[in-house]
Amino acid sequence: MSAHQPGAAPPVAELRGLRRAFEGRVVLQNINLEIAPGEFLAIVGQSGCGKSTLLRALGGLDRGWDGHLHVRGPVAFGFQDARLLPWLRVWENVTFGITGPRGERYRLATQALTAVGLAAHAEAWPGTLSGGEAQRVALARSLVRTPALLLLDEPFGALDALTRLRMQALVHNLWRDKGFAAVLVTHDVEEAALLADRIAVLDRGRIADLYTVEAARPRRRTDASFEAARQRALRGLGIEDIDGAHAPPELSPA
Ligand SMILES: Nc1ncnc2c1ncn2[C@@H]1O[C@H](COP(=O)(O)OP(=O)(O)OP(=O)(O)O)[C@@H](O)[C@H]1O
Ligand SMILES: [Mg+2]
Repeated sequence: MSAHQPGAAPPVAELRGLRRAFEGRVVLQNINLEIAPGEFLAIVGQSGCGKSTLLRALGGLDRGWDGHLHVRGPVAFGFQDARLLPWLRVWENVTFGITGPRGERYRLATQALTAVGLAAHAEAWPGTLSGGEAQRVALARSLVRTPALLLLDEPFGALDALTRLRMQALVHNLWRDKGFAAVLVTHDVEEAALLADRIAVLDRGRIADLYTVEAARPRRRTDASFEAARQRALRGLGIEDIDGAHAPPELSPA
């Protein structure tokens, strides 16, 4: 938990004693967290521990929680599947739901598409895109909303290893250049240690550990503090990484 400094910009999100139950079954409890403007937070945890539930609460998609939750500024969501509308061109997908003159929407869309390296595909149909391209369009769609907080729920899970590395770099650079805060849910502790300022380990609905990744940016996998952050996440997940070289298969999406 970051102690809020007097005079500093207020946190983009504040959660105190957040609890969520579904029909009496508690899936999140006593969640206390502050996310600073521009901070990159990663949330790791086993399947079913409540990561998506927490993100949905942060994004205002779920209001069935108890406790205190306050988010300041616009929020955008990035999902694992790109969820593009096949009957709209790429640029129209990017600005879908945004009002204003067509020319202005087109300008916004091409600006965001340029940021993700897809300006040339503005007029294309979603069906003609590769999986990685579709994912980048979805990212452009999030960016066009100039979020104060970008929420990413396993956004790279369905991508091949090389595309995943490129997307990690792209998200990192956009985050660095645009200054939004980001919350990334991931199974991949290495991804968390590469991208995040802080890592929260969620275990059965509770924050079991929350710590700062001390490694300097740009991050290097060979850096001792990078490795320490990765190991600490693994320990938080109850997994011993015996040789220090590889996460177990269930934590290393192909
Ligand atoms: N709408 C719902 N109704 C009932 N139970 C739900 C609902 N949404 C989530 N749950 C339950 O809450 C728990 C946490 O789900 P959640 O989707 O947050 O897990 P997760 O950590 O994101 O898992 P994964 O890594 O598999 O995506 C699960 O047991 C799930 O079945
Ligand atoms: Mg989930």
